[in-house]
Amino acid sequence: MLEQGAVGENHFLADVQRLRVSAQAMMAGGGEPVRLLQTAMSAEIACVLRYSMIAVSADGLENEWVATECAAQAADEREHMVKLAKRITELGGKPDYFAAGLATRHVAPEASKGCLPRLFAENLAAEQCVIELYRELSTHFASDPKTQALLDNILADEETHTSDLEDLLTTQLI
Ligand SMILES: [Fe+2]
Ligand SMILES: [Fe+2]
Repeated sequence: MLEQGAVGENHFLADVQRLRVSAQAMMAGGGEPVRLLQTAMSAEIACVLRYSMIAVSADGLENEWVATECAAQAADEREHMVKLAKRITELGGKPDYFAAGLATRHVAPEASKGCLPRLFAENLAAEQCVIELYRELSTHFASDPKTQALLDNILADEETHTSDLEDLLTTQLI
């Protein structure tokens, strides 16, 4: 089950961390709402790609729980992406589906067969970073209740993703 040479850079985490740092810098400077929401939307695009990729990887096709779990998670992340795109549009912006700020969209080579424990551990670390991003954004948007409610709603889903991943790591991937 364990792959050879499993240790490497967590590109998924690196992408969401970069987006979080960028959002923090924007918030420190006042924070233009559309650009801030775009950082979250870009993180969601990374999540959609990541979970979709794992769902149809060799391991995903061999293990029904992997395909089911990752497809469901990809669907949630896509819903988050759409909700953020809608709010960006409502605020007069133009959503960027090219995911500005993502350096490593080519995630497929990471899904080599037998690397599930590493992939899921990386997913967990990235989800925890996404949760921090949403907490920070929610605080920042305190004066915009509609956007804050959206962010809190997505945050609750991300917390569920994290606990699901923790469960999988201790049940399926030991
Ligand atoms: Fe999400
Ligand atoms: Fe998530």
